[in-house]
Amino acid sequence: MSDKSIIIAPSILAADLSRLQEEVETVEKYADWLQIDVMDGHFVPNLSFGAPVIKNLKTALPLDIHLMVSNPAERIQEFLDIGAANITFHAEAVQKTEERKALIAKIHDGGATAGIAINPETSLDNVGDVLEDIDLLLVMSVHPGFGGQKFIEHVLSDVKTARSVRADLMIQMDGGIDDTTALQCIEAGANNLVSGSFIFNAEDRRIAIESLRPSS
Ligand code: DX5
Repeated sequence: MSDKSIIIAPSILAADLSRLQEEVETVEKYADWLQIDVMDGHFVPNLSFGAPVIKNLKTALPLDIHLMVSNPAERIQEFLDIGAANITFHAEAVQKTEERKALIAKIHDGGATAGIAINPETSLDNVGDVLEDIDLLLVMSVHPGFGGQKFIEHVLSDVKTARSVRADLMIQMDGGIDDTTALQCIEAGANNLVSGSFIFNAEDRRIAIESLRPSS
């Protein structure tokens, strides 16, 4: 019996985007969330998709919007309008505390949970100003922009620290997560794992998803 206390969120960036609806249907029975990597080609070098594409997806999975964009304030409403369950913006894109708090409030007012993400080079201290306001902390284990990269281990120390500071926090990790690195993430205190290429490149996507959960 696998442990459902860990949220597994396949990242659609790694899916065959020419058949996105079908691809989502191959994972939605086994996954808990669906992660949508929104990239603007400015905050990260890659350009992905926005709400006009995602609003056409039919899925019961909660949509987890990861805004890898320079100006998240411009994107939040369109994802609230399509029923996003969680919206995460990057600390590196919004430096001022009052701006961070305003975005968190806007996301909450729109009925979604609010997350802030830190890149591997950003210290956990950088988000100390909103650590009590957020519902989710995303600790990136790759430099954002592309799937299929190698897991960066040093970020696990920030996960451990965040877990020790807020026992109730949803701590998500994203980047290079497979059946080996998932265990390290969970041991460090993460309870929400995003995985793209490991799941979508797998022979059996159900088995791949289940292999990310600790067997209880
Ligand atoms: C990277 C994205 C990740 C990525 C994960 O910028 O934020 O969600 O798609 O892909 P894998 O699991 O292949 O590293």
